[in-house]
Amino acid sequence: MGIFRTKSVEQSIQDAEGAGNRLERTLSALDLTVFGLGVILGTGIFTLTGLAARDYAGPSVALSFVVAAVVCGLAALCYAEFASTLPVAGSAYTFAYATIGEFPAWIIGWDLMLEMALGAAVVAVGWSGYFTSVMESLGVTLPVVGVGGWTFNYLAVIVVLLLTWLLVGGIKMSARFNLVMVVLKVAVILLVIFAGLFFVNGANYTPFVPPAKATEGVSGLAAPLIQVLFGVTPTVYGTAGVFAAAAVVFFAYIGFDVVATAAEETRHPQRDLPIGIIASLALCALLYVAVSMVVVGMLPFHQLSESAPLADAFKAVGQPWLAGLISIGGISGMTTVILILMLGQSRVFFAMSRDGLLPKGLAAVHPLRRTPYKITIIIGVVTAALAGFIPLSTLAEMVNIGTLFAFVVVAVGVVVLRRTRPDLPRSFRAPLVPWLPALAVLACVYLMLNLAVETWLRFVVWMALGVVVYRLYSARHSRVALSRRSRS
Ligand code: ALA
Repeated sequence: MGIFRTKSVEQSIQDAEGAGNRLERTLSALDLTVFGLGVILGTGIFTLTGLAARDYAGPSVALSFVVAAVVCGLAALCYAEFASTLPVAGSAYTFAYATIGEFPAWIIGWDLMLEMALGAAVVAVGWSGYFTSVMESLGVTLPVVGVGGWTFNYLAVIVVLLLTWLLVGGIKMSARFNLVMVVLKVAVILLVIFAGLFFVNGANYTPFVPPAKATEGVSGLAAPLIQVLFGVTPTVYGTAGVFAAAAVVFFAYIGFDVVATAAEETRHPQRDLPIGIIASLALCALLYVAVSMVVVGMLPFHQLSESAPLADAFKAVGQPWLAGLISIGGISGMTTVILILMLGQSRVFFAMSRDGLLPKGLAAVHPLRRTPYKITIIIGVVTAALAGFIPLSTLAEMVNIGTLFAFVVVAVGVVVLRRTRPDLPRSFRAPLVPWLPALAVLACVYLMLNLAVETWLRFVVWMALGVVVYRLYSARHSRVALSRRSRS
């Protein structure tokens, strides 16, 4: 059927070499790992740790980080295989186009907007909150702009637009800025780990997994889908709490897959992409487990703060200057998350418009900067508008569902491509195919089921909108479809 037409791997690679929309290959495995750290380490570790420990897992939140890392690790192996086989911009979108077909690829491209553009906007809103509180602790009160109950988040808009400008400036410039910020945030995280050790009180670790406690449960649209489907009595803490917290801290790992979107800017993509993806994920997992172990050791878990748990833990033990340093690490961490999520988004749109599924003119590459500047500017403006005008905290779960869905499609795609194109050279092969991808799918679906009913409803509406756009525009302008029609 037409909508399941695929684009051959060879064609994808050839398109990437075409003049006029070719990106510059400058990145190494180390650059990619730093990119990975840039986009992964951020809101998740600097804010969600407190909420996940306090409300769901207690001291065993470190185990939740391990569970989420395992789920992401399974997906990362699938991404690594794909990226080594099809080193073309677009990540999950490009992988789906080569395996399952055009319509699923479009759907995934559409879905990735939730992870990247919406994700960037959500993090920008978090950034503005952190920034405001740091300024307040310095005695500077920033003005609030808005009318009635509605506020205009101008800080989020400013940071997004500045980062857009940086992205248009060139991949090397963005990479250099990212490197400085990553060094800063990793240093701060290491500081939390080593300075925090001096304040750990062993008593805070017992019981490590607090006994499960039934809750009233959240009802209606805010209830997790799994609870509604199976009528499970909601509990917090206990073993179930470890898994529930894993669905929350999953956000902290989002981004390792974005490394794959930089495929066309990588010098030796077949070798370096798998290294970049797996190394950045593994390093973050190590840091997360260490940070969460230290933080829950510093304070009884129910005293952890929700908005800035790391900084507040140091304030609570009488170290306000360390708390200040940590907040600066948080801000730099979130800055690069926004930067690279937008970078990833621009590369996905770039691939989609080069294929004609979005207007082709958007894929133009700047003659000097060698960046897809038109798309980057559009994404920057839309992200800034989202972050500036919409209260996004309720939409944060949409980022998780969008990302998990992409993971599922990539895992399925690995199995499909092994069957349809066993001949392709794969410089990295995921182990135990098809079992490992199958497990990845199950694990991602399980985490998705832990998300709220309203998140699912919004997700379905967003995807339905994607189907309409596909029918009205993309299916008619697809380059693959047009070239087949002209041949027949
Ligand atoms: N993993 C990224 C963060 O935690 C999205 O901010």
